[in-house]
Amino acid sequence: MAEPLRDGTGPRHVAIIMDGNGRWATNRGRPRLFGHHAGAKRVREVVEACPDVGVKYLTIFAFSTENWKRTQVEVAGLMSLFRRYIAKETRALRDRNVRVRFIGDRVRLDAKLIQLMDDLERITEDCTGTNLTIALNYGGRDEVTRATRRLAQDVHEGKIDPKDVDEETLPKYLDTHVLPDPDLVVRTSGEARISNFLLWQSAYAEYEFIDTLWPDFTAEEFARLVGGYGRRDRRFGGVKA
Ligand code: FPP
Repeated sequence: MAEPLRDGTGPRHVAIIMDGNGRWATNRGRPRLFGHHAGAKRVREVVEACPDVGVKYLTIFAFSTENWKRTQVEVAGLMSLFRRYIAKETRALRDRNVRVRFIGDRVRLDAKLIQLMDDLERITEDCTGTNLTIALNYGGRDEVTRATRRLAQDVHEGKIDPKDVDEETLPKYLDTHVLPDPDLVVRTSGEARISNFLLWQSAYAEYEFIDTLWPDFTAEEFARLVGGYGRRDRRFGGVKA
């Protein structure tokens, strides 16, 4: 594995669009869900690698608001995978001091899954190590829309004066309100798109689009990407001092 980055120059928050599970399975003549199961194993490996590479926040895109368009078999299989993953990993995540949060709209999720999500958030709420955020039924536009609706309601109720709405206001209404913005966004599988992921939050993020299909992604590759970030020059639109 590459040298650990603990000197504060590495990304504190890495967000990952885990793409390519379907192609990975198809390449092996297997059903798409086989790829999703293989992908779930990689999640564990990457979460475990976070302390070694100095990543304090990891946010992963597990299911988008657009993913409901997939076949009923694939959607049901993914939901079942999420239920099983949460039930199976809860103790290990707590033991590893990982605090888990979910972002996205829960309304379309089934009651059993919501219960497991609530339990996992509660059971890990005192954990102080890695902050793992799982985006489930998440879409950036949907999140901004829901946030705007709540903000508008607060304006309507007189809690906020429209004159006081500035760039600090909307983030307080986003699902990610307790998280720092991502420093590095990674997408696997060779697609150079952000697909509605963390639209507001990634305004100044660095992006890495890599060819690896998600089930082939390793802790070594994660460490390499994190190490590469440390050698970049981020200016946030300004000029280098
Ligand atoms: C994209 O690959 C992947 C998904 C829509 C699902 C991501 C889910 C996992 C990695 C499973 C485990 C996650 C957790 C949190 C347990 P794709 O199906 O779009 O692949 P393709 O582009 O090759 O078709």
